[in-house]
Amino acid sequence: MIRSIEQLDLLHKRVFIRVDFNVPLDKKTGEVKDDARIRAALPTIQYAIKKGARVILASHLGRPDGKLVPELSLEPAGTVLSRLLGQDVIFADDCVGDGVRKLSGDLKDGKVLLLENLRFHAEEEANEEDFSRQLAALADVYVDDAFGTMHRAHASTVGMVRHVRERGIGFLVASELKHLQPLLKGAAKPYLAILGGAKVSDKIKVIDQLMNKVDALLIGGAMAYTFLSARGVPVGGSRVEKDKIDVAKRILDKASASRVEILLPIDHVVAREAKGGVPTETVEKIEPGLLGLDIGPKTIELYRERIAKAGTVFWNGPMGMFEIKEYAAGTRAVADAMALATRRGALCVVGGGDSAAAIAEFGLASQVTHVSTGGGASLELLEGRELPGIKALEE
Ligand code: 3PG
Repeated sequence: MIRSIEQLDLLHKRVFIRVDFNVPLDKKTGEVKDDARIRAALPTIQYAIKKGARVILASHLGRPDGKLVPELSLEPAGTVLSRLLGQDVIFADDCVGDGVRKLSGDLKDGKVLLLENLRFHAEEEANEEDFSRQLAALADVYVDDAFGTMHRAHASTVGMVRHVRERGIGFLVASELKHLQPLLKGAAKPYLAILGGAKVSDKIKVIDQLMNKVDALLIGGAMAYTFLSARGVPVGGSRVEKDKIDVAKRILDKASASRVEILLPIDHVVAREAKGGVPTETVEKIEPGLLGLDIGPKTIELYRERIAKAGTVFWNGPMGMFEIKEYAAGTRAVADAMALATRRGALCVVGGGDSAAAIAEFGLASQVTHVSTGGGASLELLEGRELPGIKALEE
C-alpha cells in the first residue's frame, strides 16, 4: 500500500517533498524557460502549506555529475515558485550540511525552504547511505511528488525514504499513476499507441510490452525509416539505425503473427538538408539524397482517422522535426486529433519529453486527458517495470 499525502499528518511537521524541478533554463539569461513542472507540483506544495507543514523542497536540475555547476542552480526555480505561490521561498545554498540543518530546524509552519540541486553531490545518484541519512534527518515526513524522477534509484527517491518515519505520494504522482496505469490494464478499445522520435533503440522495450495490449501501433518520426528499411522500402538519405533493422524486422514479424497492426508512413515531407528555409516536397517514395523529415498529408489523414475511432491513445515521440515549422504538421495533426478524441470521451495520454513539449507549444496540453511530466518514467512504467521510487514507498 502507498499512502497519499492526504493520509499523512502534516501539522507542525518538517515535510520533505521531492519535486521534479528539472526545468529548461534560458542559456543567456539563466531564467526558467518553461515552468510546467513547477506548476505541476503546486497542488501538493499548497496543500502542505495549508495543513501547517514546514515545507522542505528538493530536486535535481540537469546532470552536473556530482559537481557544483552554478548554471544548474535551483535558485531561478525558487524565484518562479515564490511568484506562483505568492509567498517567500527560502533558498538554501546546499542540500546537506550544518547550514541546511539549521534552516530546516528553524522553519516555521506554512513556510517553504528550497534546497540547492541534489546532484551537486555525487552521492545523490550513487544512492549513498550516509548522504541518504543526512537528507532524511532534515524531515519528519517524506512525500514524493517527482514523477519524472521515480525511475531513478537515487538517495532522494529511494535511499532516504526508509529513514523517514512517515511517507507517501503527492497529488502529481497520484494523477500520473491514475492516468498511466489504465494503459497497462483494461484500456478501452480500440487502443492505439503512436510512437515517434529519433530512435527505435529507445522504444524497443515499450513496443514489446505494448504489442501485447494495443490494437495498432502508429509509427512516425525518424524511427519510421528504420522500420521502412526493415520492410525493404527505400528511404533515401533518411536517418536509419542500421544496427536496429533486425530488431525492427522482429517487431514487424511479431505483429503480423499476432492481431496487432503496425502502420508506417505512406508519404513524407522531404528535403536535401535537415533544416528550415530549404526547398521541401511531399513524396511517396524517397529518392537518394533526400531526407524524410515529417510524415506527409496522406499519412496524417490515415493516422487521424484511426485516432478519431480510438477508445484509448498513448502518444510518445514527435512525428517529425517539429521544432522547424516546415516539418511540424505531422506532430501538430496528432496533437489536434488527440484533443478531438479527448472531447468525445477517449482516454488520450501524452508521454513526457519531446511530445509533451510539442503539445505545450501547440497550446493543446490542456485539451487532452493527460500529459505526463515524466519522459523516461512514463516509458518505464509502460514497459511494465516497477519504478524504484514507487517501490520505496510501499508499506
Ligand atoms: C527528466 O527530465 O526526465 C527527469 O527529471 C529525470 O532526469 P534524468 O534523466 O537526468 O534522471
